Amino acid sequence: MTILKVEGLYKHFNHIKAVDGINFEVAEGEVFGLLGPNGAGKSTTISMISTLFPPDKGQILFKGSSIGKDAKSLQKKLGVVPQDVALYPTLTGYENLGFWGNMYGLRGKLLKQRIEEVASVIGIQERLKDRVDKYSGGMKRRLNIGAALLHKPELLIMDEPTVGIDPQSRNHILDTVLQLNRQGMTIIYTSHYMEEVEYLCSRICIMDQGKIIASGTKDELVEIIKGQQQVSLKLDKINDSLVERIKRLPGVGKAEVVEGEITVAGESVDGILADIIAEVGKSGSHIAGIDVRKPNLESVFLHLTGKALRD
Ligand SMILES: Nc1ncnc2c1ncn2[C@@H]1O[C@H](COP(=O)(O)OP(=O)(O)OP(=O)(O)O)[C@@H](O)[C@H]1O
Ligand SMILES: [Mg+2]
Repeated sequence: MTILKVEGLYKHFNHIKAVDGINFEVAEGEVFGLLGPNGAGKSTTISMISTLFPPDKGQILFKGSSIGKDAKSLQKKLGVVPQDVALYPTLTGYENLGFWGNMYGLRGKLLKQRIEEVASVIGIQERLKDRVDKYSGGMKRRLNIGAALLHKPELLIMDEPTVGIDPQSRNHILDTVLQLNRQGMTIIYTSHYMEEVEYLCSRICIMDQGKIIASGTKDELVEIIKGQQQVSLKLDKINDSLVERIKRLPGVGKAEVVEGEITVAGESVDGILADIIAEVGKSGSHIAGIDVRKPNLESVFLHLTGKALRD
């Protein structure tokens, strides 16, 4: 069943087309990925879903009803983890969670119980009594996630929750996402790290310059560039005539020297690897290493936009 449907959504800030006509659907129970570089329009999209501001055009449906109609009751069903950490630095972790719990109408015993449960999910039980300005960046991020979980939302929206933190906190957050999902929570996960999205998400939308440029499962997305295999050969010596000869082999689209290695791209490069190796042999060079690169989301993005996903 569809939990969230985004239809023909636009948001322009003067001449900046932050969100420029996007459509997507999130199915109940999935981890849905929104992948895109800086400025793609991810946060603007999330702000509209969380009713922070309305779209210029288009609509957002939560379980079939337009979210504009009853924003209050929607907010109880959504948990939003903002890109910028929203915490009070001079309050303790416990007090911060208490504040957010109050916002969701939690009080007394139930609030205390939820704070303890959430603290255990995000793994900060031992630090609950410490002031947040004493927390590491990773712990602040985790607490930021905790604040969005107190009211047990049906749909959790996370906006780049792992930016700028240590690998340990990052892994903890990724595991938490999977654990919450296994317990039945639907999650929209926004990131510009393709490995995270690849690891977590059942379906992915790739966004760039306000538009969705591709969507599907990871395998479906990689299928877009099926004919784009890459092999790199590390040789003891490279000469131009060898590169030329490899270029002329049937099935080779491109052969060039990149950082001291011959990089060959084409439809099915591993299928003609033997021919390539034979050419190297004839040239009198020796192979020090071969690296066959499988297409991944990074290469899909590069193929679609002509630029790398990382800034
Ligand atoms: N309030 C605003 N006023 C003017 N321009 C804005 C505003 N909010 C966002 N923008 C612009 O809209 C575009 C999309 O921004 P958005 O924050 O949605 O991107 P993003 O995908 O979340 O990027 P990042 O990965 O850097 O967080 C950017 O060019 C940004 O500068
Ligand atoms: Mg953003």
